[in-house]
Amino acid sequence: MANIRAAITGVGAFLPEYRLTNEEISKMVDTSDEWIMQRIGIKERRILKEEGKATSDMGARAVENLLEKTGTSPDEVDMLICATITPDMNIPATANIIAHKTNIHNAWSFDLNAACSGFIFSLSTATQFIESGRYKKVVIVAAEKMSSIINYEDRTTCPLFGDGAAAVLVEPSTEDVGVIDYINRVDGLGRHHLHIKAGGSLKPASEETVKNKEHYLYQEGQAVFKAAVSSMADVAVEIMEKHNISAKDIAWLVPHQANMRIIEATARRMGISKKQVMINIRKYGNTTAATIPLCLWDYEKQLKKGDNIILAAFGAGFTWGSTYLKWAYDPK
Ligand code: UT7
Repeated sequence: MANIRAAITGVGAFLPEYRLTNEEISKMVDTSDEWIMQRIGIKERRILKEEGKATSDMGARAVENLLEKTGTSPDEVDMLICATITPDMNIPATANIIAHKTNIHNAWSFDLNAACSGFIFSLSTATQFIESGRYKKVVIVAAEKMSSIINYEDRTTCPLFGDGAAAVLVEPSTEDVGVIDYINRVDGLGRHHLHIKAGGSLKPASEETVKNKEHYLYQEGQAVFKAAVSSMADVAVEIMEKHNISAKDIAWLVPHQANMRIIEATARRMGISKKQVMINIRKYGNTTAATIPLCLWDYEKQLKKGDNIILAAFGAGFTWGSTYLKWAYDPK
């Protein structure tokens, strides 16, 4: 029997309508469009403003878009993985809520918390279930309402993040397409530089934690920046060397969209020209787990069957990794 590979066979997405511009952020904190564009490369980000709407609402819309585009019935889905660090609530998993909202009743589902590496860790996980022959249709949905954990009085974090969701379908293929390999890594020591201080079992929510604004994302930007630049590039170069591929063999690098300077440094280390790099940070900012599938969704029409693609991410944990895959379909 031919080897089974796990191939992405469709991409869907949902972005909230509200655009939070640098001009509006400049009225909230002491910053400017010029600083944000120079140091980060973001012009605007989408924000889910509607009262009572959560990560699962965006995730469900992305999954609906995916199922419609791929002609998949909800009953056919075997498994759903939701990559998120902004679940609707601590219990239950947001994946279960998304499955319920999209009428996916024959699947089991769970959340995967790997922050900005959430999509690639989920793709590696889905790959196992597909390659083993156990499942035929796995949905990965990366969804984040980052605005729910951002302090809009903190100029060092509030310009960075945005809300959004994107979903992919992963199916078996016996052709020369799909996930070839991945390298994923973590370093728990990195937690000190990027975390949320309260609301977990270490420091449950209290009047004090709310007063001290300890439910917002805490980040030591420079330490994270340095680790992201070296780790993301190292692992992407490692996977290229392992498979004896050079920049000229690669159609696209799809990097996590945290900072334009990190994206450029990663591409430089890999010897890849900017033309081969998917970039949409300018319009969506950092949507954490959702950045990579949102890039695939944005660039879908430019992707051709057999294209060599490298995905690379770095995020809280620390978590990082790189995936080497061959795109499975031509533009439809
Ligand atoms: O996706 C998860 C992983 N996260 C990341 O990858 C983020 C990684 N980190 C970064 O992208 C960058 O470190 C930031 C964009 C967060 C910050 O940029 P930076 O070039 O590292 O700036 P910095 O923290 O070294 O700060 C330089 C100066 C400071 O002022 P002083 O102390 O030199 O007077 C900051 O207070 O820039 C100041 N600053 C700002 N100024 C205007 C920080 N944020 C702002 C701001 N507007 N928004």
